[in-house]
Amino acid sequence: MKNFISVNDVQDINALVKKAMEYKIAPFKDKSAGAGKRVGCLFLNPSMRTRLSTQIAAQNLGMDAIVFNVGSEGWALEFEEEAIMSGNTVEHVKDAAPIMGKYFDILAIRTFPSLKNREDDYSELYIRQFIKYAGIPVVSLESATLHPLQSLTDIMTITESLENNKQKKISHKPKVVLSWAPHVKALPQCVANSFSQWMNAWGHADFVITHPEDYELNEQFTKGATITNNQDEALKDADFVYVKNWSTYNDYGKIYCNDPDWMLTRDKLKLTHQAKVMHCLPVRRNVELSDEILDSSDSLVTQEAANRVWAAQAVLSEILRSNS
Ligand code: CP
Repeated sequence: MKNFISVNDVQDINALVKKAMEYKIAPFKDKSAGAGKRVGCLFLNPSMRTRLSTQIAAQNLGMDAIVFNVGSEGWALEFEEEAIMSGNTVEHVKDAAPIMGKYFDILAIRTFPSLKNREDDYSELYIRQFIKYAGIPVVSLESATLHPLQSLTDIMTITESLENNKQKKISHKPKVVLSWAPHVKALPQCVANSFSQWMNAWGHADFVITHPEDYELNEQFTKGATITNNQDEALKDADFVYVKNWSTYNDYGKIYCNDPDWMLTRDKLKLTHQAKVMHCLPVRRNVELSDEILDSSDSLVTQEAANRVWAAQAVLSEILRSNS
């Protein structure tokens, strides 16, 4: 694995999940794999889980992890080629990234979309420019359109949950539903895009996406899934419900319908096959998901967030192995 930007960088999803699960059992078994190596974690946006889990993962492998909040503490970076830098940007990525490439062995970066210009966001300029100019492996800590570490964790959590419920594992292919939820802000499509991309590539589930009209995602990520605007129909017999808000893709970055009836409730969960509920967090309680679900044993959200460490550790370990 040279970089980790999307599922396309992964040869075998199940093998990577297995590796993550092995680290969960024995966190320090590769304590010397990253000795003398350093990962730079660059944040252009806020984070709690991604930031902490990546640092812990690196430390478990014996690596140093240095976090740099570029967005709030660094010089404002310019990403456009041939830019005339007479505006607010102070340093070009062309100058900054090669220096980071000398300081670090791996560069891990979190960016967000503007949600203003779809073409710009979906071109993934920030990540592409770091890959182009850093000269070292780059790991996405969430980009403008994808969140691959979250998706790897999500598949690990589904796999783990099935292992713990042998009856479900043996009896049928699990039904996994990605269900749009209301929100007060326009959010990126990253988590939904990425989850769809990974679920389709994984192929071990009956994957259904449900959302109100006008919330269609980019087909390049959803192709292969069953898509319906009827949430009740989608939830029927589901084994896992992944709840997530996203803003519109076609008329980009907007909130259209924000019907509170799309919030997953205990009553809706009765339609499912005793489904477990997932969310990447942070979650707006009683807007996206009700307290009664989040505070119940049906919720996998804490386990899911805890698993971020092992997913990050598996990815860093693979990159160290491939680039040693
Ligand atoms: N799920 C997730 O990426 O959480 P953070 O934004 O806290 O990193």
